[in-house]
Amino acid sequence: AEAAKKPAETAPVLNVGHRGASGYAPEHTIPAYDLALKMGADYIEQDLQLTKDGVLVALHDETLDRTARPTAESAPGDCTGLVREKTLAQIKTCDVGSWFNETYPQYAKPEYVGLRIPTLEEVFQRYRKSTNYYIETKSPESAPGMEEELLRLMDEYGLTKPAADRWQVLIQSFSPASLQKVHALDPSLPLIQLFSGAETSQTIQARLDATAAYAVGIGPSKGDVDKPLVDAAHARCLDVHPYTVNETPEMEKLISIGVDGMFTNFPDRLEAVLDKE
Ligand code: G3P
Ligand code: CA
Repeated sequence: AEAAKKPAETAPVLNVGHRGASGYAPEHTIPAYDLALKMGADYIEQDLQLTKDGVLVALHDETLDRTARPTAESAPGDCTGLVREKTLAQIKTCDVGSWFNETYPQYAKPEYVGLRIPTLEEVFQRYRKSTNYYIETKSPESAPGMEEELLRLMDEYGLTKPAADRWQVLIQSFSPASLQKVHALDPSLPLIQLFSGAETSQTIQARLDATAAYAVGIGPSKGDVDKPLVDAAHARCLDVHPYTVNETPEMEKLISIGVDGMFTNFPDRLEAVLDKE
């Protein structure tokens, strides 16, 4: 039988819905992931936080304050402060849609009010193997056990082999230690090393040999990406997926210098650029 193709082999430039279609819907909610997929995203991104009782949830910030609002079910303090100091039951009382309606009235929808923080398991239960997941271990040094729990859930939902065979799950982190830990637990899993915007093309290039020892690609900040970086990464068989690319001209420029995918809050804009090609 023919080997299953990686998305990178069938889609020349991967469209990664950053926190879902988070330009149009509240980040890391089911409507944002649904919309990203409807718009043609190849991957939906999850940022992981670990609750006090050891549950992985999809939330970007370490704290609840920016995106969570208390509801009638919340006790005082349930929806502020560090996620790792709350139980899942506490954070499940919080509304993570209302902030979006207040901040982006042009995209506000009544149905966003009252949306809850999804657990990673709920995300896997909803989409199963129908999509690809691009999962980030966030602040892993403050969340011991995060990597083990991620791999356990991937196993439970039958995603470990598809991740290894066709990149159905890409695991990303700014932390080399977190990725090296995953690599030690299962060297077959495809990993993406993120680099912060404090780096430059040159400083990233200096780290490519070390990165290639455990990763299949890099996720640099878009401003650090030039052709020498893309060529140096490709010379080491590393794919290049810049973040977070929201404007059509910058999408076109990055594609012209050879990137392999990108994170975007507006997956429809990237689809339109790719359709033109
Ligand atoms: O994971 C790629 C990009 O999302 C990294 O930045 O802060 O949005 O997670 P951040
Ligand atoms: Ca991220």
